[in-house]
Amino acid sequence: MNQIADMPDAVETPLDQIDFSDPRLLKDDSWHEYFARLRDESPVHYQAESPFGPFWSITRFEDIVAVDSNFQDFSSEPTIIIGEVGEEIPAEMFIAMDPPKHDVQRKAVQGVVAPKNLEEMEGLIRTRVQEALDDLPVGETFDWVEKVSINITTQMLATLFGFPFEDRAKLTYWSDIAAAGPQMTGGDIDPQERFDGLMECLATFTQLWHDRKAQNDDGFDLISMLQRDPATADMVDRPMEYMGNLLLLIVGGNDTTRNSMTGGVLALNQNPAEYDKLRADQSLIPSMVSEIIRWQTPLAHMRRRATRDIEFGGQQIKKDDKVVMWYMSGNRDERSIENANEFIIDRANPRHHIAFGFGIHRCMGNRLAEMQLRILWEEIMLRFSHIEVMGEPTRVNSNFVKGYETLPVRVHPL
Ligand code: HEM
Repeated sequence: MNQIADMPDAVETPLDQIDFSDPRLLKDDSWHEYFARLRDESPVHYQAESPFGPFWSITRFEDIVAVDSNFQDFSSEPTIIIGEVGEEIPAEMFIAMDPPKHDVQRKAVQGVVAPKNLEEMEGLIRTRVQEALDDLPVGETFDWVEKVSINITTQMLATLFGFPFEDRAKLTYWSDIAAAGPQMTGGDIDPQERFDGLMECLATFTQLWHDRKAQNDDGFDLISMLQRDPATADMVDRPMEYMGNLLLLIVGGNDTTRNSMTGGVLALNQNPAEYDKLRADQSLIPSMVSEIIRWQTPLAHMRRRATRDIEFGGQQIKKDDKVVMWYMSGNRDERSIENANEFIIDRANPRHHIAFGFGIHRCMGNRLAEMQLRILWEEIMLRFSHIEVMGEPTRVNSNFVKGYETLPVRVHPL
């Protein structure tokens, strides 16, 4: 159970001696065998000890769908990560609320990603993607994460919030520190730095709220939308709720899309035959985008809390037990997805995955994420014959965000 010790052998170690919350499983990309064992041997698995306390692991696709659909018995409150909510900043987010409050708050902001708004955003996102790709240093090895994935997602976030474009790097910083809480990683960020950063985030967005109010226009950015809806028009007076919802969109829209942009490049390098298919038929881009999101599953889990004693999958789950749905495992479950451990860009049913979750909390930004990835790949195919991976990626140290710190690449123009 000690996270400093070597990882236990994936095949030989009894399951009750493995800590499935250990962030190194994602950092080293060593999780596959461990979770395949859980799916086969103990699909509803109780872990009595971990740095985050005891919890259940749900690892099969159908079981995850069942838990995620049942918000009455499996609550999202008080938080959706394995650890507890940071006491230092008790931000409130609707991803961690149950109905009816969840539904009211989600309704207030979901217009920002409504089809009409997405259509309006598409041109702008495409222009920004084109600029980012045209600026790439041809003939040099560079970091895809920094120059493309972070660059593009940050621009998109600034657009979504109507945030001053020149200050947009701050959004990435706040997202990183929000997602780097000790609850997720075991703590490798200075708590004071995190606190100061999040307070700066709140102060900046509070100012932005008042500035936007003074402008009194009909903007389709997120803040204008909150101000127009009677249910949220005074949200700025509830700072922890305001900040929570901002962070939800910043983190939700940042890490996930960013890591899918990187994961796709890696997957296509590891599967050259799939890349050949793409070159031969670019109408495969939309289905490839879904396959990339399934393959990457940029959020490894969501957590629930049992609201009563309940039997599930032959196990007795007790009231208040933590129940962790491991999406990354469900998306590799051969029982529900044919050839789940292969990357296939022309699958028959590519949206049949749970990377976006399921049920009332299913990702609000799923169409926006898909649109960004589609535009990125459309524009890549117009410019480059190949994006060559030049070395191993480094991965994020987290049991929640499944993603990349760096990926060295070279681009080869057409
Ligand atoms: C919720 C994944 C992109 C905003 C979620 C959930 C997952 C997820 C797993 C929780 C579902 C559940 O509990 O059942 C992803 C992935 C993305 C992505 C894989 C990209 C590939 C985005 C983007 C936005 C966004 C771009 C920005 C608009 C949200 C919000 C929620 C959410 C607001 C909370 C929904 C609720 O509680 O009702 N996402 N997300 N996501 N996502 Fe995303």
